Amino acid sequence: MNEQPTRNLAMELVRVTEAAALSAGRFMGRGDKPAADKAAVDGMRLVLNAIEMDGVIVIGEGEKDEAPMLFNGERLGTGAPPLVDIAVDPIDGTRPLSTGLHNAISTVALAPRGAMFNPGPFVYMSKIAVGPEACDVIDIEASPTENLKRIANVRGEEVEDLVVVILDRPRHTELIAEVRRAGARIRLIPDGDVAGALMTAWPDSGIDVLMGIGGTPEGVLAACALRAMGGNIQGKLIARTEDELRRGREMGYDVNKVLSMDDLVSSEDVYFAATGITNGDLLRGVDYFSHGARTDSLALRGRTGTVREIIATHRLEKLDRISRIHY
Ligand code: FBP
Repeated sequence: MNEQPTRNLAMELVRVTEAAALSAGRFMGRGDKPAADKAAVDGMRLVLNAIEMDGVIVIGEGEKDEAPMLFNGERLGTGAPPLVDIAVDPIDGTRPLSTGLHNAISTVALAPRGAMFNPGPFVYMSKIAVGPEACDVIDIEASPTENLKRIANVRGEEVEDLVVVILDRPRHTELIAEVRRAGARIRLIPDGDVAGALMTAWPDSGIDVLMGIGGTPEGVLAACALRAMGGNIQGKLIARTEDELRRGREMGYDVNKVLSMDDLVSSEDVYFAATGITNGDLLRGVDYFSHGARTDSLALRGRTGTVREIIATHRLEKLDRISRIHY
């Protein structure tokens, strides 16, 4: 098939995450998470609404954050086709941003209507994510040790050569102990497992696999990015309470089911963008200077697998004249 080049919505999504990062970046180290969230959400909503699409938010701001919402079910865009699902995480890493630490990013993804997994009441899921080389060998139901052996084997490496990225949480004490016993090295991150998952598919990141329990919204966003990058992710829903489990069951969810990347986002026609807010392994943070700012972003497209790294210089005095947002 020789198709004409078609619209790449990821190029438009970059403006969404740039707006969120430019707004939220002002709150670095200022200890005000709600204000940072509000700035990011307002920036995101303004630009999402300008995109020619009929979008509905499937993955909005989590209940967990109690943040100013881009709420699930909210309609965004001009209302014209294409019909799309939207996943947002205006700030992945609200804590590091508010304390001036590394690895806060802004992310958004689009997929055809109905393609994104709706996590219902489930805030957390366990995850395993890898880059292209190991995408066929992972199994979330096998032990961490078994997964590490398979990943090392398919890459022609030893387990000792692998680096596992894990969120630094008390719930991961046993996982960390097992990975250490297996002989792999560990990169503990204070927050930000979307970037953690992306790094597994990023050449030269030094990260080979993500393991552990993190946010369900972040899992869907990571699945969108990894579909485009040729990696893989599997997940299983985790109920925090009996009530969450009961509500989930009543809505037809099965916590024993392995969620494949296809379950998390069922179409390859997926678009993903991310912009750094604070400096990180993957992206540089927003750099403000006299009358301007510089942003560092990624734009990914599932159909073609194209990964674009986009550095932009923004003239803030010009934007001030035309934009409703004061950056
Ligand atoms: P937010 O900044 O959106 O709150 O998410 C940060 C994060 O570290 C995610 O990357 C991760 O999936 C989740 O929180 C883990 O949840 P918790 O901090 O409750 O362990």
